[in-house]
Amino acid sequence: MRISYFDFVMDIKISTAKRLHGTVPVPGDKSVSHRALMISALANGESEILGFLDAADPQSTLSCIQSLGVEVRRRQGSLRVKGKGLQGLRAADSILDAGNSGTTIRLLSGILAGQPFTTTVTGDESLRQRPMKRIIEPLSRMGAAISSPPEQTAPLTIQGSFPLHPISFSMERPSAQVKSAVLLAGLFGDGTTKVTEMIRTRDHTERMLGLPVDESANGRTVTVDGGKTIDPRTFQIPADISSAAFFIAAATLVPGSEVRLPGVGLNPTRIKIVELFRSLGASIDTVGAKVVAGEPIGDLLVKSSHLQGTVELQAHDVAQLIDEVPIIAVTLALSGVSLSVRGGGDLRNKESDRIRSVVTNLRHIGLDVDEYPDGFAFQSKKTLIPSVCDSFGDHRIAMAFGIAGLVLKGETTVQHAECVEISFPSFWGLLLKLQQD
Ligand code: S3P
Repeated sequence: MRISYFDFVMDIKISTAKRLHGTVPVPGDKSVSHRALMISALANGESEILGFLDAADPQSTLSCIQSLGVEVRRRQGSLRVKGKGLQGLRAADSILDAGNSGTTIRLLSGILAGQPFTTTVTGDESLRQRPMKRIIEPLSRMGAAISSPPEQTAPLTIQGSFPLHPISFSMERPSAQVKSAVLLAGLFGDGTTKVTEMIRTRDHTERMLGLPVDESANGRTVTVDGGKTIDPRTFQIPADISSAAFFIAAATLVPGSEVRLPGVGLNPTRIKIVELFRSLGASIDTVGAKVVAGEPIGDLLVKSSHLQGTVELQAHDVAQLIDEVPIIAVTLALSGVSLSVRGGGDLRNKESDRIRSVVTNLRHIGLDVDEYPDGFAFQSKKTLIPSVCDSFGDHRIAMAFGIAGLVLKGETTVQHAECVEISFPSFWGLLLKLQQD
């Protein structure tokens, strides 16, 4: 199996850190970067994107929208996107490649469903194994004809239809990608599309499109009217809290540390990791909180602290921590805090099978871990040992076990560490720099 999506393969060796000190320029939010590009592409005029995440995943979205006829220029650290309006995209000359990015293929499929042409979109080996039935079903109900291999995975060939039928869609499982795919398709409907989620997921799409939201005991319903005009604007992308999470963990774990993380996105649907760590005794202060371009941001000031307690995460917690489970597992294991994760079966459908990846690597560093179809659990243990950990080609697994290496006594190896290029290309360099400041 080809594990690396990149032209190079890299193993990283991490030694025990003395202390971490300094400011970490955490790169732009991945979820918001993808959406800013797609929404700009559909706007009537030129948008500017500041703080765009320059990493492989958003680059996949960028290449895809360019193939659909959207002009994008780079200008002094910002992107300028010449929006085509809702009906201005053109058929691509060749197959679109979403690379490793689930957000690219699923959200873009929502847009492609409403086009008067056919597009094929595929991805790398990992993405081609991830489930697409969850978007094929609602988008087909709306009128797109989507063909795929029998496993309902990529490549997807999407014969779009305009206008689409508006639907009322109740989500079976929490997923911001599925919600967003249907909402984006709803822009091409001849009426009002409604998406209801019982468990709240990240809400960037509805915020960025300014969509009405209704919350009741029957769930949270987002409404989109077909034909809604999208105005061009300036997007200011916050620093990604899911990337900041690795440095929050590192500063908490390594004694004597003090780390500042400027301009981190503090959207309420994304900050559960901060709330969880604080509830266990972490010292994480928020400084200068404000709202920028519709998203709350602020600096996080993290000092080392001793975490205590027992943590049980269930389905609704996992939905709010979907990208943070690997670093939470590492942080709690190294803090001597027992953890149980249940109701997280979808963690097996990420860039790697994250239940298997986390369990395998935790066992390598000496922890007794029980694995379940929908999660894992471990009891606290005093002494863990450095080892060779595999990233399984998954950026968040590589970074989580890189952080473990800062605390384990000796040298930890992270194999296939190049996969951080997906969301955080500067990660290893910043980790080294923090130890030198
Ligand atoms: C994302 C949603 C989540 C998350 C992914 C980004 C998004 O996926 O894991 O990294 O940008 O909407 P699911 O919708 O599959 O939970």
